[in-house]
Amino acid sequence: MSEGTKREKDERPVKEGRRQFRAIKGTRDILPPDSALWNWFEKTARGVMESYNFAEIRTPIFEEAELFARSIGGETDVVNKEMFILQEDYENKEVLELVQLRQRIEYINVSAARPESIEDFAGVIDTFLERYDSAQKKGVIRQNEYSYGYVMSDELQEARDILRDILRMPRDSGWQESFDLAVAECKHDIAHVFLQSRNALRPEATASVCRAYIEHGMQTRPGDQKLYYVGPMFRRERPQKGRYRQFYQIGAEVLGTSDAPAIDAELIEMLTVLIGRCQIEKWTLLVNSIGCAECRPKYVELLRAELRKPEIFSKLGPDSQRRVETNPLRVMDSKLPEEQPIIEKLPKISEHLCAECREHYDKLKKELDLRKVPFVETPRLVRGLDYYMRTTFEITSPVLGAQNALCGGGRYDGLVEMLGGPKGIKGIGFALGEDRFIDAIVEAKKIDATRAVDVFVAWMGEKAYPEAVRLARVLRDAGRAVELPAKEMKFGKAFERADKIGARHVLILGEDEIASKQVTVKTLASGEQKQMGEAELLDYVRR
Ligand code: HAM
Repeated sequence: MSEGTKREKDERPVKEGRRQFRAIKGTRDILPPDSALWNWFEKTARGVMESYNFAEIRTPIFEEAELFARSIGGETDVVNKEMFILQEDYENKEVLELVQLRQRIEYINVSAARPESIEDFAGVIDTFLERYDSAQKKGVIRQNEYSYGYVMSDELQEARDILRDILRMPRDSGWQESFDLAVAECKHDIAHVFLQSRNALRPEATASVCRAYIEHGMQTRPGDQKLYYVGPMFRRERPQKGRYRQFYQIGAEVLGTSDAPAIDAELIEMLTVLIGRCQIEKWTLLVNSIGCAECRPKYVELLRAELRKPEIFSKLGPDSQRRVETNPLRVMDSKLPEEQPIIEKLPKISEHLCAECREHYDKLKKELDLRKVPFVETPRLVRGLDYYMRTTFEITSPVLGAQNALCGGGRYDGLVEMLGGPKGIKGIGFALGEDRFIDAIVEAKKIDATRAVDVFVAWMGEKAYPEAVRLARVLRDAGRAVELPAKEMKFGKAFERADKIGARHVLILGEDEIASKQVTVKTLASGEQKQMGEAELLDYVRR
């Protein structure tokens, strides 16, 4: 259905108070028979990961927003634009009051024509600032050390001061516009002031796994912790094919004291084994090393200096021009076709690694060769999350279209320590997009996961019914999928239904069968029909 018709349908007049609900934009239902393939895939992935001795970890789907902001990075799109922030924790009286003041501000309709509305608006902001200040002094609200999309209270104060100044100015032709802007700025700032205990739906799970690792002192368990997870993630992205607001990831993380490149290579090998089981043939593994805290800053400066050169700068689009100052590494990630020739010629991070990172990267490549995992070195692969260092990788598939990343991951030594955990814990992991894997499996047309109904029980007559119930249970206990109609059906109708739902066999139970203590079984594909006893039946309908 096109967007246009969808919208028109949504806007149909509501009749008699009845309203049809629809799944929220960017979310979707996965119905049978498609769900069978999802289950097959999850089972297969668990099997592969468990064969590499990974064990499942389940973490909550919402966490403190600050956890994600600190891990993924405040300047990334995932945190800045795409996080689903939940309401604050109302347990705290002071926080609750601030939340309510904030809500009032949101709903005040401020208009210069109604001076009392301005007074009310400014008054609530003043009260908010006063309460915020006192809550902070009492330690109820921590001043946030990180900006990550939040606004500081002094920024709100500043917006409030500007509004006050504008109210004192003569109301000439530009006044209304300045007034509207100042009001919008105040509303924006108050909506984004940091309040303690903001929670967010998880946009990914690496941060949660590290949080859980620290919280449960998992470093005291023997050896590396090899953990995997399966579940929904949430990002407010622009929905399109292969990109959803609720999507599903399967991921794995290795946390421990070693950063041996063999760990990185084994993790990648595991992914390629899974791709093999899914019989996806068209894929490419891209690898890179993005250095460490030692060598990356020097490279970033070099890159910035290169990008600032007028002959290069003038050829960049506005986004990349801005990023030259804010985060030049992101320029490498640009997908704009006209920027590609420039990016090709930029200095490559792999040529500016320190000796240790160089050695780590070389060993990784040897380890991948040893495991016969083909890869393409991709110097521009920098990834969209800030916690990475050294190894980064992605597997892409051309069958997916624009959103071509099947999975991505990398090393994040230092993240556990940054989140307040023990020193010296290293980490590496990946997450794959289940939605995209399913698309690739469907495209490859090699896996059929739909489970047919093995036996349709066609029964007629009061005497046949108890026997039908009993035999259905016997077959189900033996692992067969059985459909037992709740109501008597004429045999003709029963055959029709069995055929429609794709049953393999029809078990016929009528008065004759009860009398002879035999059942009749018809195999729908061949049309063959046979009489048999119960013992033979179990064997006969074996899948
Ligand atoms: P990511 O690259 O942001 O990494 O996501 C991993 C995969 O999730 C992507 O390659 C893609 O297949 C899928 N994905 C991401 N966003 C969407 C979306 N909106 N709709 C459908 N699929 C999507 C991470 O999340 C890291 N936590 C991976 C990691 C684990 N790194 C280390 N450990």
